Amino acid sequence: MASLRGLIVGVVGAGAMGRGIAQVAASAGHRVVLGDARDGAVEQARETIRSSLARDVANGRVAAAAADDTLARIANDDVAGGLRAYAPCDVVIEAIVEELDAKRALFAALEERVPRECVLASNTSSLSIAALGGGVAHADRVVGMHFFNPAPRMPLVEIVPAITTSPEVASRMRTLADSWGKTTVVASDTPGFIVNRIARPFYGESLRLLEEGTADVATIDWAMREIGGFRMGPFELMDFIGNDVNYAVTSSVFEATFYDPRYRPALTQRRLVEAGLLGRKRERGYYDYRAGAVTPSPAQDHVLGAAIVDRVLAMLVNEAVDAVHLRIASPNDVELAMTKGVNYPRGLLAWGDQIGAPEILRRVEWLQSEYGEDRYRPSPLLRRRVREGRPLLSTNA
Ligand SMILES: NC(=O)c1ccc[n+]([C@@H]2O[C@H](COP(=O)([O-])OP(=O)(O)OC[C@H]3O[C@@H](n4cnc5c(N)ncnc54)[C@H](O)[C@@H]3O)[C@@H](O)[C@H]2O)c1
Repeated sequence: MASLRGLIVGVVGAGAMGRGIAQVAASAGHRVVLGDARDGAVEQARETIRSSLARDVANGRVAAAAADDTLARIANDDVAGGLRAYAPCDVVIEAIVEELDAKRALFAALEERVPRECVLASNTSSLSIAALGGGVAHADRVVGMHFFNPAPRMPLVEIVPAITTSPEVASRMRTLADSWGKTTVVASDTPGFIVNRIARPFYGESLRLLEEGTADVATIDWAMREIGGFRMGPFELMDFIGNDVNYAVTSSVFEATFYDPRYRPALTQRRLVEAGLLGRKRERGYYDYRAGAVTPSPAQDHVLGAAIVDRVLAMLVNEAVDAVHLRIASPNDVELAMTKGVNYPRGLLAWGDQIGAPEILRRVEWLQSEYGEDRYRPSPLLRRRVREGRPLLSTNA
């Protein structure tokens, strides 16, 4: 394979993610081929990249000539014309619609075009990489490369090897993403990978608190922001992500874990989706964003706020410890993923150590005895760490 910078990078899908990934690769000096099945999509993507680079130039982050060079490095492919422009690619990253059959058909068609050594990477958020590899002749070259939105700004990339992926392919893709200035972590091919799995209780536990009438959305958001130190509260974040998208991620993790009750979606969120209250993009979600709407005020009760944060945080730490227990990622990668992928104020394992593993265990056991639900089972590794008196942020020996 040519030197890293000389690699030609293909991106299929020129939507929110694909255009961001194309911008990242072109900014790093690669020739990029960008294609989309929809007429005009690549031109639109090019305009979005142009404005994004113009902002970087205005802020002094990028020189004007470098921005022009970046755009000039992106060539179009007419996907309808049989993916011909992808023929010289060393790696193709797909960011098309989140449907297994569509992605498998695309990889199979690409295999007809690209050289044997070309890596086929998927930006899927929820599909199994093994299932994508199962649809091609050479599954050893299929790997997950999960970027976060917006790709040019968010530093994290989860590298996801499947059981069939060649270790050399995974390590090459990690080196490539590192060379783009990304923070890379390795995740096992499991539902939600690292970030979308461990973050579930941030939403799920907050929804339970809402459903039980412990507090309203404004108060829970206020507590998680002001006391917990999170950049956004769970409800404002769900409205920002889109309740349809957030609900779909939770549902997919729930189904893909054979209905583990820890990830059970909330009826409250389902009803919002059914009613079309999708969040900011529809001007209504948990909050009303229409002109003249009154923003609800939080209760600002510090005792209640601390109890909310204690409960949500205990479930998040338990989830992070369980990800280490199940070897989904190393403790260090768990910390990096949550701070770089979703901007948590600190790594959950270190946070749990600061609170004290025995205290986290006490909180989760209390929830388990109070509710009698398997949802609140403590991770076996949390129990073991407490028994051994070892920190949560220690190697998984
Ligand atoms: N949006 C996010 O926050 C986010 C984050 C990480 C990963 N992802 C994943 O990235 C992928 C793309 O998501 P998105 O948000 O960019 O979607 P999007 O809808 O913005 O873009 C998808 C693009 O793919 C094109 N497309 C669909 N089928 C195609 C095909 N067969 N061949 C070529 N082009 C095709 C569509 O025309 C569209 O332009 C999905 O797998 C998604 O799960 C999304």
